[in-house]
Amino acid sequence: MPNAHFQQTARQILDDLKNSGQLKSFNAIISPMAPSVEVAGSGETIVLCSNNYLGLSNHPEVIQAGIDGLKKYGAGTASVRFICGTLECHYQLEQKIAQFLGTESALSYVSCWNANAAVFPTLTAPGDVVLSDELNHASIIDSCRLVSKKVERSVYRHNDMEDLERQLKAHSDKNCRWVVADGVFSMEGDLVNLRETVDLCKKYDAMMVLDDSHGVGVMGKTGRGTHEHFDLLGEIDIMTGTLGKALGGAAGGYVAASSDVIKILEQRARPSLFSNALPATVACSAYKAIDILEKEPQRITKLHENVAKIRNGLGDLGFACPDSPSAIVPIMIGDEAEAIRKGERLLELGIMVVGFAFPVVPRGEARLRIQVSSALEDEHIRRVLEAFSKL
Ligand SMILES: Cc1ncc(COP(=O)(O)O)c(C=O)c1O
Repeated sequence: MPNAHFQQTARQILDDLKNSGQLKSFNAIISPMAPSVEVAGSGETIVLCSNNYLGLSNHPEVIQAGIDGLKKYGAGTASVRFICGTLECHYQLEQKIAQFLGTESALSYVSCWNANAAVFPTLTAPGDVVLSDELNHASIIDSCRLVSKKVERSVYRHNDMEDLERQLKAHSDKNCRWVVADGVFSMEGDLVNLRETVDLCKKYDAMMVLDDSHGVGVMGKTGRGTHEHFDLLGEIDIMTGTLGKALGGAAGGYVAASSDVIKILEQRARPSLFSNALPATVACSAYKAIDILEKEPQRITKLHENVAKIRNGLGDLGFACPDSPSAIVPIMIGDEAEAIRKGERLLELGIMVVGFAFPVVPRGEARLRIQVSSALEDEHIRRVLEAFSKL
């Protein structure tokens, strides 16, 4: 029998969520991810909330590469990397990531969550300090929570360079200062103040860590990410990112950095020492996705054009969208239940855009989050704007 106290608490939480209209529901998709999908019970629906920024998750060559990987290597190795879990395709993917991002080396993980979880507990040491932007992704926050008690942690105000500089100065006695930020902030869609952050890191001898999960494949002329957008290729100490968004969309993540950083992670990081590697099928699909991105930069151009069309169209309809070149467009609603209700109404109108509420965003800051894909055609965009005009 489950513990009675737990049962009562769990029931209370679920009842409260239901009664306040905040209970999340999950829609089952019964076709591959694409600009338009088949949703169980709702029929054909345009997806405006997937991270499939380049439309690669359903690309025939990406799928074929995964099938070939599965056939060549089997389902997996039943082992972690350092025992007998390293496949040739892991090295190939890691070399591809490093070469694409312009770093010496890279290491893959089963998710970017795991990649981030590896970074701070492994690389920091007693006497260090980690300074983290207040809007960083949950995986960075949790990674910072895992550091030694002798590593100080502090949060600086979102993109506030005065606050960051004040804190860097205040910690000038530390052995190593670490600064961490998202490249594209996942809930706001705004970009990190990367140039100023990098300059401050240089001035105060700090290590810069950039999670570019929403920037890679999206930002910069060739999709290398936020560092390319700001013309800072080669200037970031450590980059993390996901393979579960623009780069194939299945799963997986990476750390890209100097070979010393990667070697330390290989030797010491708990998420790879004690957990299996990325499945071969995913590694091969992700490799192919990066290959296609390199050969078809026009996908990035089209994505940027679609972002402009959607932002301008929503602006013309009177929706206030914060200005940003990223593919994430939040529409602030405020009230949690209202945001969820509006998401449900959009689904009725054939558009999938989910209302985001606490704990994904702070209380009272519920929103609809739109994500644009290069795979959207003008007809999709016309239907999207028509649905929003009815909202
Ligand atoms: C900024 C950021 N970092 C990390 C992650 C985690 O990525 P993954 O799904 O590969 O664990 C996400 C996904 O939501 C993200 O948005």
